[in-house]
Order: sequence, then structure tokens, then C-alpha cells
Amino acid sequence: MILLKNGRINLNNKLVKKDILIEGDTIVKIADEIKGDGIDVKGGYICPGLTDIHVHFRAPGFEKKETIKTGSMASAKGGFTTVLAMPNLNPVPDCLENLAIEEELIKKEAVIEVLPYASVTVGEKSTKVSDIDNLKDHTRFYSDDGVGFSDYEVLDEALEKIKKYDLFVASHAEDKILRYAPAGEYEAVRREIAHAKKIGVHYHLCHMSTKESFDAIREAQKEGLDITCEVTPHHLFLNENDIKNPNFKMNPPLRSKEYQQETLKALLDGTACCIATDHAPHTEEEKSQAYDKCPNGIIGIETSAPLVYTKLVKTGIATLDQFEDWMSNNPRRLIRLPLNSIKEGNKANLCVLDIDHEHIYSKEEILSKGKNSPFIGESLYGFNMLTIYLGNIVYQK
Ligand code: DOR
Ligand code: ZN
Ligand code: ZN
Repeated sequence: MILLKNGRINLNNKLVKKDILIEGDTIVKIADEIKGDGIDVKGGYICPGLTDIHVHFRAPGFEKKETIKTGSMASAKGGFTTVLAMPNLNPVPDCLENLAIEEELIKKEAVIEVLPYASVTVGEKSTKVSDIDNLKDHTRFYSDDGVGFSDYEVLDEALEKIKKYDLFVASHAEDKILRYAPAGEYEAVRREIAHAKKIGVHYHLCHMSTKESFDAIREAQKEGLDITCEVTPHHLFLNENDIKNPNFKMNPPLRSKEYQQETLKALLDGTACCIATDHAPHTEEEKSQAYDKCPNGIIGIETSAPLVYTKLVKTGIATLDQFEDWMSNNPRRLIRLPLNSIKEGNKANLCVLDIDHEHIYSKEEILSKGKNSPFIGESLYGFNMLTIYLGNIVYQK
């Protein structure tokens, strides 16, 4: 039994003081006051457990960068209770045997819900479709994140299976010749939307960052196509003028101020339905190389909530409802998981954000193995103090 005292929950965009009683894995009572000893959360914002549909936990294969244990602990620190892990691993989970290795690590090490993506193509090489016929019984989630699709016949064949089995596909849209240029993203987006339309399948686009991409997605949505997309905190809150060191290097890269503004616009008008971090840890050794040489990717799972809270909610640009939608409800709807609403009878998956105090994010506090954050030294509100996953405390400051 866990009793949370003096928390506040969001009711119609207002924070209302409540005590919350948890028994087993369930929220059993929410009331103005519940008698008894408990954890005093001191006015903290009790928020539905956050969900990130796009993280890289690097295991199996790249455990120097991250493991399921460190990645899931960092996620718990960030307030997340569910994350989806990308398949650019070694071995790539493109068949049951390979996926089983990752599943075993998740079973042993994860402190929150970690759901694996299998790859769309064998080895993420775009030449042959993964063994989706068998993988489908183990995971609904498919991506070749890290690389773009380069053979559209193979993509069509994969999409037919994804449609047939009612699975979820998330695309890293990148033209293999234009690469990191804005057109490298939006040309691939336009092509892929056409393929999704032809097959008639739900198609999700990862980390969108250009106006032309958002316009293509808007247009498709208007037409009634089931095209969705996510945006990242870094594309929302940084642009190319902010680049200082390799911890600002990722793919898609930081773009112009205009594209940054278009990213926020797409989130606010609903073109993008959720925020996903693309948490991509690398070792300090890798990231201390010259800018041109070092790998793409930044961590993000520990700073997503305070960034979005401070820069969008506290400023009045967005509401608490929007915050909960982008960070929890919408990604969960997208992948068809039950919502983590703070309600009696619901599973106790929640976090408690300290929205009244500013905190300077420091390298020393990072739980991820990767220290490659562009937000080190930033002063933010809304850092998470406590995470409960299925009734268990998985992070407490
Ligand atoms: O910045 C990125 N990092 N973009 C990607 O597409 C891959 C990811 C990674 O795996 O490091
Ligand atoms: Zn990607
Ligand atoms: Zn990624």
C-alpha cells in the first residue's frame, strides 16, 4: 500500500489538491484527504505515467552506450512508465531468435514497461522483409529507425504484412542520397505517404523536422489518410544557431529557426500527435571526437518532461491537458495501450513533477550511460520526483 499525500492532479486544466491511495498495482482511492501516513509529495503534480514511443536502449550489442537496465532507470527518472525501444541493435531483431535475446534482457533488467520494435527489413538493410509472420505474435511494433527505406518494393511487401496483421510501423524517413538536408526528409516523407496510401495502412513518421514534411502530413490527414507523426523536444526547443558541440548533433539535425517554429506549430495544431525523445545515448569517447566524426544522437529521456513543462505549459503556450496528451495519452492511443489517467480503478502508473522549483540539470545526475545532452546546465521546472509503475516505486528523488 502506498499513500501519496498533498499531491495535485489535473482536472480540466486546473491543478487540484488530492491524496491518492494505491493498493497492489491499482489506484484505489482519490480524495481531498486520506488519513494515514504516506509520502508527502508537497504539492507535486501527479501526472499519468509518461510514454515515449522512440528510444534507443542499445542492448543487445552496444552495451557500452546503454543497457535495458540503465535506459529503463533513466526513463523512470524522467517520469516514463512505458517506452518503445528501437531495433538498431546487434543482432537486429528481424526474426524470433534475435528478438528473444532482447526480450530476455527486458525481462531481467527493465524497471518499467519496455516494448521492443522489431525491424521492418532484415538487418535494417531494406533488401528483404523481416520474419513478420512469426514476429507478429511477439510484438506489434516495427521500424528500421536509424536508416531510411531504400527499396520501395520491399517496403510495399512489408506494409502489406503490417496491414494484414494490424501492426504499427514507425518510419525514419530519409532519402539515401539527399540524407540530412531538409529535402532528404521531406522527399522521403512524400514518397512514403504515397506508398502508405496505395497499400491503405496506418503509417507513423518519426522525428519530423521540416515545414514541407508537416505540410505533406497535414494534407494527407485532411484527405483522411491514417498518417501520424511525432516531434522531439530538441527540434521543438533548439535550432541550428544553438549548436555548440557534439551533444547538439543528431539525425535529423537541428534546423533553421523557421523549421523550429514550424515544428511547434505542427504540435499545436495536432499534425504531430505526440512528443518522442529519440533518446540516443553514445559513449563519452565517441562524442568527444570532432563534430564531423562523432555519431548522431543525443539523450533525452530525463529532460523531456521538464523541457515541455517549462517551455510550453509554464509559458502559457500549452495547457496541462495538452501536456498529458502529448506525453502520455496520445502516444498510448497510437499504440493502443490503456491510458494512465489518474482515476480510481486504473493501474497505478504515474509520476510526480516538481513544478514549483527550478533545477539546473547537471551531468552528475544523469542515470543514462550516455551523457550526451545539449541541455546540461539548463535551469528548468517540472523535473520528476517520483515514479510509480504498476504500484511499485521505480524512481524516487
Ligand atoms: O540521432 C540519431 N540517433 N538518429 C538516428 O536516426 C539514430 C540514432 C541512434 O541510433 O543513435
Ligand atoms: Zn530516426
Ligand atoms: Zn531514433
